[in-house]
Parts: sequence; C-alpha cells; structure tokens
Amino acid sequence: MKSILTLCAFITAAFAQHVDGPVNITRHPYLLELLNNQKHWCGAILINSRIVLSTAHCTYQVPKENLTILAGSSISQNVYTKQYKISSIRYYKKYDPKRPYNDISVIFPILSIDTEEKYVVPIHVAEMYYPPGTEVIVSGWKLVKGRHMILSHKLTLKGKRTCKADYKKLNITVFEGDLCAYEEDDAVCQAESGGALIIRNKLVGIVSRIYYPYCMLYPGLYTSFVHYKPFVKSTVKKVLSTKKKTKKTKK
Ligand SMILES: *[C@@H]1O[C@H](CO)[C@@H](O)[C@H](O)[C@H]1NC(C)=O
Ligand SMILES: *[C@@H]1O[C@H](CO)[C@@H](O)[C@H](O)[C@H]1NC(C)=O
Ligand SMILES: *[C@@H]1O[C@H](CO)[C@@H](O)[C@H](O)[C@H]1NC(C)=O
Repeated sequence: MKSILTLCAFITAAFAQHVDGPVNITRHPYLLELLNNQKHWCGAILINSRIVLSTAHCTYQVPKENLTILAGSSISQNVYTKQYKISSIRYYKKYDPKRPYNDISVIFPILSIDTEEKYVVPIHVAEMYYPPGTEVIVSGWKLVKGRHMILSHKLTLKGKRTCKADYKKLNITVFEGDLCAYEEDDAVCQAESGGALIIRNKLVGIVSRIYYPYCMLYPGLYTSFVHYKPFVKSTVKKVLSTKKKTKKTKK
C-alpha cells in the first residue's frame, strides 16, 4: 500500500465499529484499483470513461508503465473486471512530493474504460461546497486479513476553521484544498488513499491523509474535488484535445 510505504503520516489504520464491509463493487461501482506491478497499490475514482482521479502521493514516484487501472472488482474479480494501461498522469502545478497537499492526480487510460451496468459506472462530481455537519459516505480499499476489499462508512463534514484549529495543536497545516470529515463516536482510520468521499451520490473528495496515531482524535483529510475542479477541467481539456490532434496527425 502506497500510503504506508512512503510517508508514515499517510496511513490508514484500524477498523472502526460502524464500518460497512466488505462491500460489493456494485454498491460503489466508480471505485477503481490502481495496481503497481500487478499488486494492489491505491484506490482511484472513475468520473468519466476516459478520466480517473487519485491522489498525487499514490502516483508521483511511480512510472506510469508500472501502474494499471483495475475496474469492476471488489473482493473477487468477476466477468466485468478489466485492466487498463495508462497513457498519462497529470499533477497540480504546485504539487511537491515532500509536502502532502495539492494531493490530486488526473489519470488518463490509453483506452476508454468500458462502463458496465452496476459494476463500472462513473460518479457524478459535486458542483458546490457543502456545509459542516453534512453527512458523507467514504468508501475505499482496505487490507483486511490479507485481502483487499471495499469498505464504506458514514462520516460528518467538519468546519474548516475547527479542523485547522485541531491540527494546529499538532503543528500540522490543513490547506485550502483540504476537506475534513470525522465520525461522531470513534473517529475513523478508514479507507486508504484514493478512496471517495460522496455526498448524495456526488464526488466531493478523495481520501488523502490521516495522521497516525492521531486518527482516533482528529478528522481525516480529503482532497476537495470542487477546489481542484478548475485544474481537473483544464487538464482534461488539454490532454484530451492533444490526443485528438496526435491521432489526426498520425493519419
Ligand atoms: C455482487 O453483487 C452482484 C449483483 O447483485 C452479484 O451477482 C455478485 O455475486 C456479488 N458479488 C459478491 C462478491 O458478493
Ligand atoms: C517499475 O517496474 C520495473 C519493472 O518491473 C521495476 O524494475 C522498477 O523498480 C519499478 N519502479 C518503481 C518505482 O516501482
Ligand atoms: C509545534 O511547534 C512549536 C514551535 O516550533 C513547538 O514549540 C511545539 O513543541 C510543537 N508542537 C508539537 C506538538 O510538535
């Protein structure tokens, strides 16, 4: 798991009591798996058959040739499970691997991802910010007893100001593009990097970081989709229009 390999701060820990899982992919059909040399690496999210999102820290130091996208699988593979090679990965221009923010990557598969009713379905993206107190669902991959499976969990959005103040005690900065979410009773150390934060069937965030061993006390941090939407939009426009052009010139 990338989250544990590189930065000890980026970790995904124990099971919380209210975790729902293992969950069938048909419940979260936008969840993809990133494999590194054919081994589970991180989660990723399908927003369009040609566009996949994940965290920058999952993909940055890995050559794109080593990564593949696995669609339509949960605990076990099925007839709809397929692997896709990657044509390019793009980062926010200010992403710095030594600093844990701007934690988003846009991944373009070589071939469009086949969507399959119930198993592989892109998620709609949020258009707006939601107020603190809104209920969110986090879903993502997790290693449980030696197997990777999808877990999901209900959380609550936390206000930015209180979240910043909490983390200030640890000398950890919560950035502009971060969202905070926590669980009422026993705060979660839930899904691993690249999982999805969903409100009313729309993508609002990507699982980014949890500070071990503080995850029982502090909210998890998620990359806000809405904050980075202009970046995603302009990247998609650039990359997909370049692809069209190269195809034309090749002809
Ligand atoms: C997931 O759900 C589908 C559709 O309901 C079902 O056919 C399949 O057996 C389930 N897979 C697992 C691993 O439970
Ligand atoms: C990428 O894959 C190659 C071939 O398997 C391997 O030698 C190399 O170490 C890998 N690189 C990384 C950063 O994982
Ligand atoms: C945070 O930084 C301040 C100033 O550098 C230092 O005095 C304090 O001990 C640090 N607190 C923690 C929890 O590391």
